[in-house]
Amino acid sequence: MKTVTTLAELRAARAALDGTVGFVPTMGYLHAGHISLVQLAKQQCGAVVVSIFVNPAQFAPNEDLSAYPRDIPRDLQMLEDAGVDLVWLPTPEVMYPPGFQTWIDLETITQPLEGGMRPGHFRGVATVVAKLFNAVAPHKAYFGQKDAQQVAVIQRMVLDLNFPLEIVVGPTQREADGLALSSRNKYLNEAERAAAPVLHRALQAAQAAYAAGERNGEALRSLMQRTIEHEPLARVQYVSCAHPLTLQELDTITEGALLSLAVYFGKTRLIDNVILD
Ligand code: PAJ
Repeated sequence: MKTVTTLAELRAARAALDGTVGFVPTMGYLHAGHISLVQLAKQQCGAVVVSIFVNPAQFAPNEDLSAYPRDIPRDLQMLEDAGVDLVWLPTPEVMYPPGFQTWIDLETITQPLEGGMRPGHFRGVATVVAKLFNAVAPHKAYFGQKDAQQVAVIQRMVLDLNFPLEIVVGPTQREADGLALSSRNKYLNEAERAAAPVLHRALQAAQAAYAAGERNGEALRSLMQRTIEHEPLARVQYVSCAHPLTLQELDTITEGALLSLAVYFGKTRLIDNVILD
């Protein structure tokens, strides 16, 4: 496994890769969710590139960039064990050169859900992902369903800007009790950790209602809300039943839906989602 930092090193190492190149962008502090994307890329591609970059631009002013967990030696060992060919660790100066002023802003798709709660977040995500795509020039890029709006935003950007690559979406990896893997789970205390699977239970309850024929968006939102309110340690930020591509809230489900929610446990904010189709 080769590890590079500068753009010149990355370009030289990229040029030496043969066959289909798969790319997994990350912010590090890797867990089995990230590694599942690497494994998917290994299955589908001749070479796998991973980037690790804690992107300052996607943290809202009230979010603590310096508190984001980091452990590069451990990350590199996990990627080596997973059979990754090339790891790029760009510096902030490479991604945001002095005087930086070129941003990628998507319009309506970044307004609701996570975009509504985290102003500027998707501007930072879209800009950094476009720059990573330009530099790595992969054939396929891998993203987790865990961050459903991120997937929708990146897919929209790839269409709009004609990036010559395919987006592959990997399923959400979960703990045995249903809690989606996330670097934020480590901030939960014991009681909060025990309560956290209520997110998945709420989604499952709505999924079961949908399977039983419920097509009213408000009924599914209300079912998720009530399920979470049963858990005293949980505080709902939003519950949503939205169109899977536009992310607009639905009154009636006609062509599938994205069920998603954001819930606080103390100071820790967790998100989860499922697709109804
Ligand atoms: P990060 O949070 O490190 O996540 C990297 C990738 O791992 C994302 O595509 C995310 O959806 C996926 N992932 C996280 N938890 C997962 C889980 N439990 N199951 C499956 N996949 C999971 O997302 C980002 O970084 C950044 O926004 C990035 C795209 C790198 C741009 O900075």
